[in-house]
Amino acid sequence: MTWLITGGAGYIGAHVVRAMTDAGERTVVYDDLSTGIADRVPADVPLVTGSTLDGELLARTLAGHAVTGVVHLAAKKQVGESVERPLHYYRENVEGLRVLLEAVTAAGVRSFVFSSSAAVYGMPDVELVTEETPCVPVSPYGETKLAGEWLVRATGRATGLSTASLRYFNVAGAASPVLADTGVFNLVPMVFEKLTEDAPPRVFGDDYATPDGTCVRDYIHVADLAEAHVAAAHALQASPGRDLTLNIGRGEGVSVREMIDRINALTGHDRPPAVGPRRPGDPARVVASADRAAAELGWKAKHDIQDMITSAWAGWVRLHPEAARG
Ligand code: WQD
Repeated sequence: MTWLITGGAGYIGAHVVRAMTDAGERTVVYDDLSTGIADRVPADVPLVTGSTLDGELLARTLAGHAVTGVVHLAAKKQVGESVERPLHYYRENVEGLRVLLEAVTAAGVRSFVFSSSAAVYGMPDVELVTEETPCVPVSPYGETKLAGEWLVRATGRATGLSTASLRYFNVAGAASPVLADTGVFNLVPMVFEKLTEDAPPRVFGDDYATPDGTCVRDYIHVADLAEAHVAAAHALQASPGRDLTLNIGRGEGVSVREMIDRINALTGHDRPPAVGPRRPGDPARVVASADRAAAELGWKAKHDIQDMITSAWAGWVRLHPEAARG
């Protein structure tokens, strides 16, 4: 099997490439390097630089490398940016996926793993989110991920392509410092950035109906997420015509304040947070039931919050040595 990993030069993509390679799979990375970093791609893995909107390059790449499976991670993923630039997000995330699926279908590729997101649920008012929880996205980003699932499922039903849509919850951590997330768009790196500036971390609202008033999320280590992709790829390879939609989370909710307290304790910065107004569109609680991924893939997360924060901090300090205390 040869797997095309679109977005394989990204934070999550680089972890998926390594996990697939470690599992004995041949991989080829396809990335437009708009946010991906070429150095993240291992020297022995071919890198094709291009957009998923380029149908001709995709066709040449799929044929040239005799690709039999695709893991599609390439997408724009900033919720706030998607509100400001919805058409950009629909073009990249939906039209890009449509062009890719056309090339995949024409090339006779048999398996397709799609990077979806907990954002498809919007603001679920449930203790644990299952795959049956209604999907009511509240951002154009979440809408593009839900529309993406529809395209993937419809193509699978029409052509026999085996498909798996993986709904990522909140990803954090790194398998090694060089693979850490370089973006500062999510809680953990945003807190790191404040601590590095000797400023108080920000809490976006502490008046939610949660135990400590701050939002609760399901954090998943990126290494566990990558393993979920390997398990999904193998499941699709083993049985043609599969149509899987799976939550990829730990099933444990952790609040913003708890995360900040643990980051303070681990980094030795001990900076009390500054509480500000709510961020529009933030649900109080989004925590996965991961039972279906366990049942369908035999996959379960192995890393805990401490692993995520410790490994993320090691990656942060590598790029911001001034952040290390003492
Ligand atoms: C987490 C919580 C913030 C920063 C989004 C996407 C989701 C996925 C992950 C792609 C929220 C609070 C944050 C800060 C804070 N991305 N916060 N202070 O919004 O849960 O999920 O990213 O798939 O699809 O929707 O993640 O890390 O932005 O925020 O209080 O400085 O931390 O309000 O409650 P989110 P996040």
